[in-house]
Amino acid sequence: MALLMRLATRQALLRHVRPSSILMKAAAPMATSPSEQAKAYWEKNKELGRPVAPHLTIYKIDWHTLLSGTHRLTGFIMYTGLAAIAAATLIVPASYPAWIAAIKTWPIAIPAIIYPAKVGAAFTVFYHLLNGIRHIAWDFGKGFAMKDINRSGYVAMGLALILAVFAATIVPSS
Ligand code: HEM
Repeated sequence: MALLMRLATRQALLRHVRPSSILMKAAAPMATSPSEQAKAYWEKNKELGRPVAPHLTIYKIDWHTLLSGTHRLTGFIMYTGLAAIAAATLIVPASYPAWIAAIKTWPIAIPAIIYPAKVGAAFTVFYHLLNGIRHIAWDFGKGFAMKDINRSGYVAMGLALILAVFAATIVPSS
């Protein structure tokens, strides 16, 4: 009944609104579905040249941003690296030692490339591990004083670099 009354009232009112009236002129056509509304929103932003969030380039990268971004990046690298290696063990023929031997014969397998690559790989693991411990300490409510946050950041980054350089120099005995 309430619905009937509402519809009847709306019809009666709309009869008095001429299509040329200011109300109708000002009315913008509305998108009908949420996806159309979202599309219209992004198109409008593009036309107006508005930056798209998170628009990282407008922020100054400070020490803490660098530490945080490196943690995310190293986590991502380890995740994709492990997934790729796991998939490769199923698809690629031959064993791990055979692949290492094959890589050693590549023309780019020179110390100037292999050593930094090893440092990078080792740094990825050490930094994520050490900074992960830092995160876990925060989860327990420890180390939130600004001086502790700074100090633990320097320790995580410095120690990870030292350990990475050291680990990359280790030559496995064959
Ligand atoms: C192969 C081993 C590992 C992989 C593949 C991995 C991967 C990742 C990834 C992808 C993230 C999400 C990063 C982000 O989006 O911010 C992450 C976060 C995290 N990882 Fe790891 N991780 C590994 C080992 C570890 C270890 C050993 C620790 C601890 C010592 C650790 C501690 C953490 C913590 C605490 C976070 C959450 C950081 C936050 O709250 O933003 N991870 N990890």
